[in-house]
Amino acid sequence: MLKIAVFVSGRGSNLSAVINSIKSDDLNAEVEFVVSDKIFCEAFNIAAENNIATYSVSETPKDGCVDYNLLADVFKKNGIGLIVLAGFLKKIPAEFIGEFNEKIINIHPALLPSFGGKGMYGLNVHKAVFDRSCKVSGATVHFVDNVYDNGKIIAQYCTEIYECKSPEEIAAKVLKLEHKLLPFVIGKFADNKVIINKRVEILE
Ligand code: GRF
Repeated sequence: MLKIAVFVSGRGSNLSAVINSIKSDDLNAEVEFVVSDKIFCEAFNIAAENNIATYSVSETPKDGCVDYNLLADVFKKNGIGLIVLAGFLKKIPAEFIGEFNEKIINIHPALLPSFGGKGMYGLNVHKAVFDRSCKVSGATVHFVDNVYDNGKIIAQYCTEIYECKSPEEIAAKVLKLEHKLLPFVIGKFADNKVIINKRVEILE
């Protein structure tokens, strides 16, 4: 079974979607750890309700936080096969990314390569999409490399937003897609159906 760690900074609705998908037997994976850059965030409540161990991580020494080296050791000892960034706002250190090559994925609430990069998170993304009068938006799951929102795209779902009257409406519509896309992609990793060549392919 695929063991995963989910990195979060806030409310954790994508974490919930993954846990619910596991509970309903749609996803053959286990969330072993929830990690945050915060000492506490709402998503930690979801972890606690589901008896999932949590860590707070920091690149610089900070009370109550572990560093990325310790986290890497814990993940290796526990056979973590996939690291999922779901609303994690800090940049992951290059060394850590190197240790988990092609095992770190991120969900982004827009259709990359548009509307990504530094500062493009949360409602900022949907405001930019709204201001540009986009007619479609969506969610992207991609590999994490050393540049924000830059790694190869694994899967995308899109939706029409003609009728959305505000960035908040777009956010709500896209979030529903995210909650389907993320468990879908994790499921494909669990089934060894993500093939990485020059392009990333997902098998049926
Ligand atoms: C999601 O929109 C995700 O795409 C983005 O941050 C948000 C996190 O939401 N990276 P939640 O914490 O999963 O509710």
